[in-house]
Amino acid sequence: MSVCEFKPGLEGIPAAQSSISFVNGQEGILEYRGLRIEDLAENSTFLETAYLLIWGKLPTKDELIEFEHEVRYHRRIKYRIRDMMKSFPESGHPMDALQASAAALGLFYSRRDLDNPAYIRDAVVRLLATIPTMVAAFQLMRKGNDPVRPRDDLDYSANFLYMLSEREPDPLMARIFDVCLTLHAEHTMNASTFSARVTASTLTDPYAVVASAVGTLGGPLHGGANEEVIGMLEEIGSVENVGSYLEDRLQRKAKIMGFGHRVYKVKDPRATILQKLAEQMFDKFGYDKYYDIAVELERAIAEKLGHKGIYPNVDFYSGLVYRKMGIPTDLFTPVFAIARVAGWLAHWKEQIAENRIFRPTQVYTGHHDVSYTPVEQR
Ligand code: ACO
Repeated sequence: MSVCEFKPGLEGIPAAQSSISFVNGQEGILEYRGLRIEDLAENSTFLETAYLLIWGKLPTKDELIEFEHEVRYHRRIKYRIRDMMKSFPESGHPMDALQASAAALGLFYSRRDLDNPAYIRDAVVRLLATIPTMVAAFQLMRKGNDPVRPRDDLDYSANFLYMLSEREPDPLMARIFDVCLTLHAEHTMNASTFSARVTASTLTDPYAVVASAVGTLGGPLHGGANEEVIGMLEEIGSVENVGSYLEDRLQRKAKIMGFGHRVYKVKDPRATILQKLAEQMFDKFGYDKYYDIAVELERAIAEKLGHKGIYPNVDFYSGLVYRKMGIPTDLFTPVFAIARVAGWLAHWKEQIAENRIFRPTQVYTGHHDVSYTPVEQR
């Protein structure tokens, strides 16, 4: 067997063949099934985009109506899942609650009928439908309230915002939230998608696939960065402090959250769209000083780190948008998961269609032939 060069983080090494999404990091292009993200954000809904990702083509009008209908009528979660979630510690992170709840769904639907298209469709519908309900239910229950029942007269995004706040959201806000979900739905072979594919390759059930991906998404170098962006903007506190904050971070060789990307060496196209959405939010719902801090930080970082290809990534402006919607900071990553379930399921379906279990190799750096020392002599 030939000896391959070890690449930390598997940088540049293809882990799969995939026709789901495409990124050109030099030109800032993102496509889902060949369609530009800008077109989808402008014209599609999140559920339509999820259908595109999972079944490979935009749905016809009738297919979309049927899919939306199925998702709408599977939004309720079982009482036993709700009761289980009630016993979670309220101090626990909502991503951990989501991971446990997604895995628990597998207890109810553990049949692994992976060759049956009806089983695949059921699992897709159930996961897309119930994950927002579980995120909202944990949010209310950790505050000591009962979860709110989903409302069948509201669409996917409006219903989620309603379940969180118990108030019907403004239509612009609901539409902007829906675009945010579309922007976060899929992004080639990132860490959580890789995790989903590795788990899928064992031919386990899709609930375990999603649970493992949720666990991977939670870390601060991946989906968790958007929470940290808000903490950072609060710490900076004013536009005048941006320069000194940045100097201090760079001197300590600390990363600036919401900047940099393994693939994009220009501004992430999703950050460009999100920035416009943030402006629409502020125009309609009021000014936010953190937006000015963010814009100044982006300018200062382009000056200092632009030569290294460090520009805003998707997490930089998403937090500002969610904050304005009244979504608590520690729900930003679960909201990311609500969207990314679409991509994970598309990769699950693609992986099992032509499966080979992942079993990479390693570069061993340890000793050989070590003589055993009995415990008394160590
Ligand atoms: N702030 C300051 N410098 C940075 C940043 C940053 N956010 N990101 C990268 N750099 C610098 C590194 O210090 C390094 O400099 P050097 O060559 O002088 O040592 C160079 O750019 C390359 O950085 P790496 O860490 O090697 O890049 P990598 O591709 O491994 O990391 C990552 C990408 C993890 C996203 C990184 O940019 C980062 O930690 N960013 C902050 C966290 C973040 O925003 N994560 C969300 C990513 S998007 C998503 O997951 C949905």
